[in-house]
Amino acid sequence: MKINSLDIGDAVQLLRSGEIVSLPTETVYGLAGAINQPEAIAKIFKIKERPFFDPLIVHVSSVAQAKMQVSQWPKSADILASAFWPGPLTLVLPKAKHISDLITSGLNTVGIRWPKHSLTEAVIHELAIPVAAPSANKFGKTSPTEAKHVVQEFSGQVPVLDGGSCSVGLESTIIQIDDSSTKPILKILRPGVISAKSIENEFKSKKVNFSWQQAGEEIMAPGQIKHHYMPSVPLVLIEQDIESSKVKEYLTYEVQKKLHKKILYPASLDLSEDPSIAARQLYSQLRKTAEQKNVDLIYFIKKPIHNNDLWLAFFDRLQKAASLRI
Ligand code: TXA
Ligand code: MG
Repeated sequence: MKINSLDIGDAVQLLRSGEIVSLPTETVYGLAGAINQPEAIAKIFKIKERPFFDPLIVHVSSVAQAKMQVSQWPKSADILASAFWPGPLTLVLPKAKHISDLITSGLNTVGIRWPKHSLTEAVIHELAIPVAAPSANKFGKTSPTEAKHVVQEFSGQVPVLDGGSCSVGLESTIIQIDDSSTKPILKILRPGVISAKSIENEFKSKKVNFSWQQAGEEIMAPGQIKHHYMPSVPLVLIEQDIESSKVKEYLTYEVQKKLHKKILYPASLDLSEDPSIAARQLYSQLRKTAEQKNVDLIYFIKKPIHNNDLWLAFFDRLQKAASLRI
C-alpha cells in the first residue's frame, strides 16, 4: 500500500517553495531540501535533531550537475562517477562557492551523489537544482528503508514520496578524493556496498595510479561515530561461539549484568545468509523486531560465514547499532 498520494510534481513544488520532502533512494530514504533554500536546510537539521557539525550529502541527477557543485573535478572523479553513478557512492571533493556552510558544516569539501531511483532522479531533474539530504531518521537512529518508516519516525510531519522498499538498504560508500599530489589519494570515510576492491578494479582497468589512505581517528563522517543507527531497544552483537541452546541463558545472565537491565524477552534478528539480501533487510528487521510485543532486547550472532569482505559494510552498521558486543 502506498503511504500517501504525493507524486513527482508535488515533491518538486514543495521543494521549490522551500519545504522539505522525504525522497526514496536505492540506499535509504533521504530528507531533502533544495540547496538554494537555506530555510529548508535549517529545517532538516532541526527536525532530525542533527548536530550542525554533521554535513549533508548533495544529491544530483547528472554528472554535469555534479561538476557544478565542486571547484575541482579530477580524473579520478570521472572514473568513479562513470563506473558507479547513478549508484550508492558519494564523492567528497572541494566545494563550489554556492554550496553553503550549513550544508558542509563549514568544511571546504562537499559530498556529492547521484542516487539510483527513478522517482528521485525525476524530481531532481525537474527541479533543476540539487537537493541536500541526510537519511530520514532522527540523529543516531535506524535509517528508513520504507516510506512508512519515515512516517513513523517523524509522526507524519514530513511529506514522503513513496518509492517502495530501498533495493540496497545500506547508506552509500563515502570516498574522499585528494587530487593535490601527483597521484590521487582516496580515503573511504564510510564503507558501503561499493567496496574498496571494486574501486581498485576500476582504477586498474583504466591503468590509473592512486593510493589509499586509511581513514584516521578524526571523525569526518558521523557514519564514523561509534554509536549510530540504533534501534529503540538495545541490540547485542554476539561475536563469540556460543552453543545455540545456551544463548538465552547467556543473554539473561551475562548481558543483563552488563546492560544493568532486566532482560525478559530477547529476540534474535533474523536475516538472510546472503550479504546483499541481509543488507536490504537489516534496518527494516531492526525496526520490526524492536516493535514485537514485549521484546526488550535484540541479538545477532556472528558466524564464520560472515568473515568475508562482502559483509564489511553490514557489520560496520551492526556494530554501531549495537549497545553491546560480546
Ligand atoms: O546513501 C546515502 O548516502 C544516504 C542517502 C539518503 O543518500 N544519505 C546518508 O546521509 O546516509 P547521512 O547524512 O545520514 O550521512 C551522510 C554522511 C555523514 O556521515 C556526513 O558526515 C558525511 O556523509 N559527509 C557529508 N559531507 C561530507 C564531507 N564534505 N566530508 C566528509 N563527510 C561528509
Ligand atoms: Mg544517516
